[in-house]
Amino acid sequence: MQQQKTYKPCDLVIYGALGDLSTRKLICSLYRLEKAGLIEQDTQVIGVDRHEKTRDEFIEIARQSLDTFLHEPLDQQIWQRLASRFNYLQIDLTVMNQYQRLKTFVDPEQRILINYFSVAPFLFNFLCQGLAQSGLLNDESKVVIEKPLGHDLKSSQEINDAFAQVFNEDQIYRIDHYLGKETVLNLLALRFANSIFTSNWDHNTIDSIQITVSEEVGIEGRWGYFDNTGQTRDMLQNHLLQILTFIAMEPPANLEAKSIRREKIKVLEALRPITAANVAEKTVRGQYASGFLKGKAVPGYLEEEDANTDSRTESFVALRADIDNWRWADVPFYLRTGKRMQSKRTEIVINFKQLPHNIFKDSFQDLPANKLVIHLQKQEGVEVQMLNKVPSLDGNIKLQKTKLDLSFTEPVNEKPVFGGYERLMLEAMRGNPTLFLSREEIEQAWTWVDSIQDAWAQQNETPKPYPAGSWGPVASVALLARDGRAWEE
Ligand code: BG6
Repeated sequence: MQQQKTYKPCDLVIYGALGDLSTRKLICSLYRLEKAGLIEQDTQVIGVDRHEKTRDEFIEIARQSLDTFLHEPLDQQIWQRLASRFNYLQIDLTVMNQYQRLKTFVDPEQRILINYFSVAPFLFNFLCQGLAQSGLLNDESKVVIEKPLGHDLKSSQEINDAFAQVFNEDQIYRIDHYLGKETVLNLLALRFANSIFTSNWDHNTIDSIQITVSEEVGIEGRWGYFDNTGQTRDMLQNHLLQILTFIAMEPPANLEAKSIRREKIKVLEALRPITAANVAEKTVRGQYASGFLKGKAVPGYLEEEDANTDSRTESFVALRADIDNWRWADVPFYLRTGKRMQSKRTEIVINFKQLPHNIFKDSFQDLPANKLVIHLQKQEGVEVQMLNKVPSLDGNIKLQKTKLDLSFTEPVNEKPVFGGYERLMLEAMRGNPTLFLSREEIEQAWTWVDSIQDAWAQQNETPKPYPAGSWGPVASVALLARDGRAWEE
């Protein structure tokens, strides 16, 4: 079956085309979309950067990126088709009259102008003003932006205000690349297409929920950015809170962006603020020390290249979040994320309540409760942990723990499973905002994260060390142990 293409051809302009995000992710994603036949025939891709390059040089850089990051052999025919769409334009984005140069490359009357800002945030304002003055924008034009969208609520509002001067809210496509992941979207299907879950999804049946996003990587030469940011702003404010909203939201009326966003915002609004009075009991900040990862010695955070050795930035955070609404009363959400942890894993664990009475005491003094484990990466799938009878002619009924395992790793119906960026670039070209974030959502998430940051500052909280290659500081085990629970390992 032919998949739906874009509504109209586009001029996709990537600002910062020679930068990291573009060369690592965006160009590979365009190649995969080309391969799947999902790019409109007349769509063009214009790379913009401050360096002087010819079109051929840009095409060569793009090809080298594919050689390095695509992880599959390059099909020459597909590559030629993609390369024929490419153009390159040198612009110093801080110089307003240089934006006029775009005029030779784009035609907003014929093709939708999509402006992908793959640049540092300090350039956002210049870009908005430069584009406004270029006279190229119309109601169909779009802008695609990525985190960091601010450092806190105030700076995020400033960025959003700058965009609002030039673009309407429905023209702004804010990316959280987790929303492009197949399995994150599958949460919608799991929750709202399966009655066994819709009717068992609240405080009556669920005891607690865990969300873990652990990474093996350290800060990968990104000291300047990361040390100023920390894991809470880098991962929790966006990716983990997005996962939490998908798990906790009420059923939306439909799959339209408006309906889904409305429900997500309600969850964020219901998050109970963490204060100086309870921050020590509800949160754990960590920083990795040297250790071993997969048998290899790795340096600690403070020993990384260019490190500020006095840094108190956290590379790990764990916390208990409470959602003050009817559905989730007294159901804790335990969130943790960290760098240099034992393995890369994004996982949600739904712990169901124990049954009120145990008639199988011969097998289990304490009947283990059911668990639904949703693996988002690396292995994608769903696992239900349950109990069944051990097959035998024994007079007593003996139980054992088993798993119902549904893996999504194999391509479904041989269609390839796409990564986040392919999907998000395609949806931006199609003009479908459902998988992008609204201003209100981002600002609400900052409001909650700011409450935590303020509480840490007031309490002068320093991060607790954990050895690289572990599951974080011991204090994160204690965080759950205090509530009589444990992390799923
Ligand atoms: C990014 C963060 O948003 O997400 C990085 O800035 C992090 O620090 C990355 O490593 C993780 O993404 P993924 O898709 O590898 O889980």
